[in-house]
Amino acid sequence: MSETRSLPIGVFDSGLGGLTVARELMRALPSEAIVYLGDTARCPYGPRDPAEVREFVLQIGTWLTLQPVKLIVIACNTATAAGLSLAQRVFDVPVVGVVEPGARAAVQATVNRRVGVIATVGTVQSGAYSRAVRALDAGVTVFSAAAPRFVDVVEAGLRMDDGPIEDWMSQISEVFVRPSFYEIARDYLDPLKRAGVDTLVLGCTHFPLLSTAIQQVVGPDVRLISSAEETAREVAETLAARGQLAAETGRPGRAFYTTGDPGEFERLGSRILGRTTGPVDTVSVAKLGALVGGDMRAAVIAFDSEEETCA
Ligand code: DGL
Repeated sequence: MSETRSLPIGVFDSGLGGLTVARELMRALPSEAIVYLGDTARCPYGPRDPAEVREFVLQIGTWLTLQPVKLIVIACNTATAAGLSLAQRVFDVPVVGVVEPGARAAVQATVNRRVGVIATVGTVQSGAYSRAVRALDAGVTVFSAAAPRFVDVVEAGLRMDDGPIEDWMSQISEVFVRPSFYEIARDYLDPLKRAGVDTLVLGCTHFPLLSTAIQQVVGPDVRLISSAEETAREVAETLAARGQLAAETGRPGRAFYTTGDPGEFERLGSRILGRTTGPVDTVSVAKLGALVGGDMRAAVIAFDSEEETCA
């Protein structure tokens, strides 16, 4: 038990966006060690076929379990929607996604029971948020909009600027992406405003980095929800229930990996985290692809046939 307690939490995303969740985990659970993998080489996940994203979840989940880790956080809505239930089935450690925590926070926040969700195409088409909200409170109506270009705005904006991330967040609409940001944002957000939502879920882990600008567009009466805080709470509760919270130590290990450019990941990632990532290591896509063995494939086939039987 004490050995498991000292293992890191494994976190992954298609790239940098999941660092908004890692940042919250570090704030809420400062004694926990973290291993983070950003699959930058294959970002974005949003437009991909869900079966392909599910394969990425298997690969990266397997890589994380080999580190080893005591719990996996899928810090990507698209990957959560495509692969959370399979990951929970095939891995021996608990797997926490970001959709259910975001849905829970939205259900708690809404007063008029009209909730908007902006997310990637993959997440919206999966219907994952509608299902999660309905399971918590069937009286809440969900209005979803795919906002894929927000991912590009974040990725491009981060690369264009070197200042502190909080400055970037407050200046983004003024400096980097004006006026196109407002055009894009209005296209995505006006239908949700017309639907009268009082709560808007930022259903992509990249989007909290645009929250200042999104808030300007939707106005002060719409409450923005990022799933990061609620996800960190769920991780804390899961570890506490299992007696696996780390002992309070001075400096827990934090290790960052990318399938892309490690120098760029270190530079941009440190800005999102508000502290240095330290040197970032590379994991090749080829290595990840070779990790999923025959036993895992058999478990996937068994899972899929059960799903079909239940459907
Ligand atoms: N961060 C991913 C998510 O939360 C979106 C970015 C992508 O399309 O890869 O869905």
